[in-house]
Amino acid sequence: MILTFLGIESSCDDTAAAVVRSDGTILSSVVSGQTALHAAFGGVVPEIAARAHAERLDGCVEQALGRAGVALRDMDGIAVTAGPGLIGGVMAGVMLAKGLAAGTGLPLVGVNHLAGHALTPRLTDAVQFPYLMLLVSGGHCQFLRVDGAQDFTRLGGTIDDAPGEAFDKVAKLLGLPQPGGPAVEAEAAQGDPAAIRLPRPLLDRPGCDLSFSGLKTAVLRARDEAIAAHGGLRLQDRADICAAFQAAVAEVLAEKTRRALAASPVPLMAVAGGVAANGAIRAALDGVARERGVRFLAPPLALCTDNAAMIAWAGIERFRLGHRDGLDLAARPRWPLDHAAAPMLGAGKRGAKA
Ligand code: KG4
Ligand code: ZN
Repeated sequence: MILTFLGIESSCDDTAAAVVRSDGTILSSVVSGQTALHAAFGGVVPEIAARAHAERLDGCVEQALGRAGVALRDMDGIAVTAGPGLIGGVMAGVMLAKGLAAGTGLPLVGVNHLAGHALTPRLTDAVQFPYLMLLVSGGHCQFLRVDGAQDFTRLGGTIDDAPGEAFDKVAKLLGLPQPGGPAVEAEAAQGDPAAIRLPRPLLDRPGCDLSFSGLKTAVLRARDEAIAAHGGLRLQDRADICAAFQAAVAEVLAEKTRRALAASPVPLMAVAGGVAANGAIRAALDGVARERGVRFLAPPLALCTDNAAMIAWAGIERFRLGHRDGLDLAARPRWPLDHAAAPMLGAGKRGAKA
């Protein structure tokens, strides 16, 4: 039987609602971003985010149902991000979902945001378990082996910043606009990655853990040296620093992917998160996958970044495994996917993710 779910997402700075069917059809996916609201503060302000979610969520749900041409009564369930994320936003989504479930009698399924990202290749390409997922965004960075819709093994992750966060901070250091990723990538295209030597953090240590904050500090030093040498930051120096930074991130991600695939051989490796938009990083990961004879999959960008279609889908997968939540469903700021993994130390500017 084909199921149709409403999905709701509000764990960071995107308010989103979507209607998705269990055959993989996305009937609608509405995302209302908050970049402009936080622009003046250099990062997501949790209280502003929570307020904006509370104001926008019902409108997003109405739009998602409208665009899909369905009514709430046509749904088979309501899936909502119940964590991890900025708690005020998660609570806003969970409260709305509970209200809708209570009003309609529909089943309620709380979804882990990271599971939403990790299960996206099954929504977009119907891939089979097991596979390797690399989540790389402004708030997440981890390798997950996915063996089932509720069976994740964390192979490693960042011990400090997420890579998108590092791109954003590097952009800020170099006077480039936010979000930093696309700006740094555009600059890097004009630069020479070999002009400056930046470190390759944690490559000397075994395992799949990553670190990006030292790289950011190295960029600061390179910038100051260039300024001291020439009395200002020349455009070519800036482009070279961007190219060197991007090459360092790509190389580290590629090598850690190589290790993850060696430790846990699987037929497919997928990426998700905004950083997966980066051409050099994509190419480096694709290269490692080829080298190991593994299929490489990068879902369309709109489904790589935060959205509610992935939440609806993960809700369907959980529901099919018999999972239901009651009106006591709790919003959780932290919710590790892999209960066996040691807790991470890092808590980026977008909040601790797991
Ligand atoms: O997944 P995402 O949209 O949202 C959150 O993490 O919440 O990821 C956004 C991040 C930002 O840090 C942005 O700078 C980064 O993804 N990003 C990129 C590129 N496009 C976006 N990083 C590197 N290269 C890009 N082309
Ligand atoms: Zn996310």
